[in-house]
Amino acid sequence: MATIGDLLADATDRLRAAGSETARLDAEVLLGFAVGADRTAIVAHREAPVGVDAASRFEDAVRRREAGEPVAYIRGIKEFHGLAFVADARALIPRPETEGLVDAALAEVMIRLGRRSGEAGRGGRDGADPVHVADVGTGGGAVAVALAAALRARRVEMGRHVTILATDRSAEALDLARENAVSHATADGMRFIEADLLPPVLPDGGALLDVVLANLPYVRTDAIDGLPIAASFEPRAALDGGEDGLDVVRALLERLPDVLAEDGVALFEIGADQGESAPAAVTELMPDWRTSVAPDLAGLPRLLRVERPGS
Ligand SMILES: C[S@@+](CC[C@H](N)C(=O)[O-])C[C@H]1O[C@@H](n2cnc3c(N)ncnc32)[C@H](O)[C@@H]1O
Repeated sequence: MATIGDLLADATDRLRAAGSETARLDAEVLLGFAVGADRTAIVAHREAPVGVDAASRFEDAVRRREAGEPVAYIRGIKEFHGLAFVADARALIPRPETEGLVDAALAEVMIRLGRRSGEAGRGGRDGADPVHVADVGTGGGAVAVALAAALRARRVEMGRHVTILATDRSAEALDLARENAVSHATADGMRFIEADLLPPVLPDGGALLDVVLANLPYVRTDAIDGLPIAASFEPRAALDGGEDGLDVVRALLERLPDVLAEDGVALFEIGADQGESAPAAVTELMPDWRTSVAPDLAGLPRLLRVERPGS
């Protein structure tokens, strides 16, 4: 019977030859998936024998990875913002850099909840209108669900204090988003609506949105073919942002004057090369709105903030 060490050595060589830049890591994660253990157990028990069924599951997984399929689709799971999300070809795999969008949104929501409970006096949060949030282009729901889970951890009651509308043009992606919301018990206070950006009539009686989040497609069409092969397994509609990558972002910017409340804020994940073109698009459409770009942990401009002035 082959040992963990034997299988890892062979698979690492094969995955490296197939072009994976993370061959060893891929092999460890996939072997963990095949034997039903986490990666640390795999690394710590190199001499342990691997049963025939697990070795056969591992062989299938390695073959799929050799063909370029992302590890997250093979495992059917991706960790994001400390939670495990179901990941499959219905939606883009959530990326670690998008966690910054969740953190920024959480801060915006908490600021507004604090303001409202101050204004509502003794009724506190319970006496105030909910903060209305929309995650536009929710894909598998990672941003919306992670935000709802983080709010719950701060004792925010979904539905009563905060509502989250999650939209996508892809019905399949929305099904996955609903499944992820149910599995994290965050579906209360969330709505999933199939729409081109936003529905013509907003839920909750058309209440304006206080915080809009969007990780929309922003890859330039001519750059799609140059992406790593793993991206070719993801829906193209989740990636392709048109000629300059900003077609869908611009379309949402155009909708903001009709849907964003006064003092409302919209947060967009953008490409690292869009730190100038994205805020320029805002200024062109809404010259009196405030806009800024924040860097991510690597110092790259990845988060566009757009704020509607108050009265
Ligand atoms: C880059 S993916 C991001 C998915 C998810 N927000 C995340 O961060 O993992 C973009 C998503 O936007 C959706 N999308 C693209 N154009 C859209 C549109 N016009 N209206 C609604 N959703 C759209 C795609 O179907 C895809 O799910």
